[in-house]
Amino acid sequence: MSDIPKSVKILDIVQENSLVKTYTLDISLHGKPGQFCNIWIPRLNEKPFSVADDDGKVMKFSIAEIGPFTQELAKKKVGDKVGIRGPYGKGFEYKKGEHLVFLAGGYGAAPLYFLARQAGEDGCEIEFIVGARSENLLLYIDKIKKLKNVHLHIATDDGSKGYRGYNIEVLKEILLNKKIDHIYTCGPEIMMKKVSEMAFEKNIPAQISVERYMKCGFGICGNCVNDGTGAPSCKKGPVMSNEEVRKLKDFGQYHRDEEGMKVKL
Ligand code: FES
Repeated sequence: MSDIPKSVKILDIVQENSLVKTYTLDISLHGKPGQFCNIWIPRLNEKPFSVADDDGKVMKFSIAEIGPFTQELAKKKVGDKVGIRGPYGKGFEYKKGEHLVFLAGGYGAAPLYFLARQAGEDGCEIEFIVGARSENLLLYIDKIKKLKNVHLHIATDDGSKGYRGYNIEVLKEILLNKKIDHIYTCGPEIMMKKVSEMAFEKNIPAQISVERYMKCGFGICGNCVNDGTGAPSCKKGPVMSNEEVRKLKDFGQYHRDEEGMKVKL
């Protein structure tokens, strides 16, 4: 782990869908699925992003263009440099050989893809549900199809690809028909709140990626503290067990912004 930003070259940029690009950086910080790094653009700012891949040689980050920082990042070309520090936080964990279900909404598919690649190689069987509003916003579909021991399920709100409706309905169906050992989810918090409730009702353990406004990344600034437990998400999370998540008062209700003000979901 490095707390001092390292300057690294962008080796490759791939447009994944209408909103998301994957940046390959010329560095490995030995990041794990579910952990995050802060990417820094000199004279602008730095922001945390989930590790989408780290093979020991290069790292990948799949980033949606949704604000001033990511719009500036989107102007970068192959060969340009950015700063990076991390990785931070707790990632996902699994036991070899288990039957798992992954529920990804939006760009939550990227860290779960990284996890599925490792878990599939380790003999886990994985039901991987990817959901988005419509087909053009689905992420990593071709990559997931190629993974070992992974069965892909697609849901779109408008029915343009796969099941028409919410991915949570596909999860419900899978839990009715298959014996699942563990549930993993990453994506919009309203969706993950439903997963948390469903996992609790079915008495199946779950791991949930709780995103908060991260600044320092290592438990000092207090910006990412969760209401209910007072635990910093950057240290206790972002990935938490469902037991931990169920103690959070803010989960599925509101976030806190840069100034610590409540923002309703
Ligand atoms: S980001 Fe600073 S305490 Fe978590």
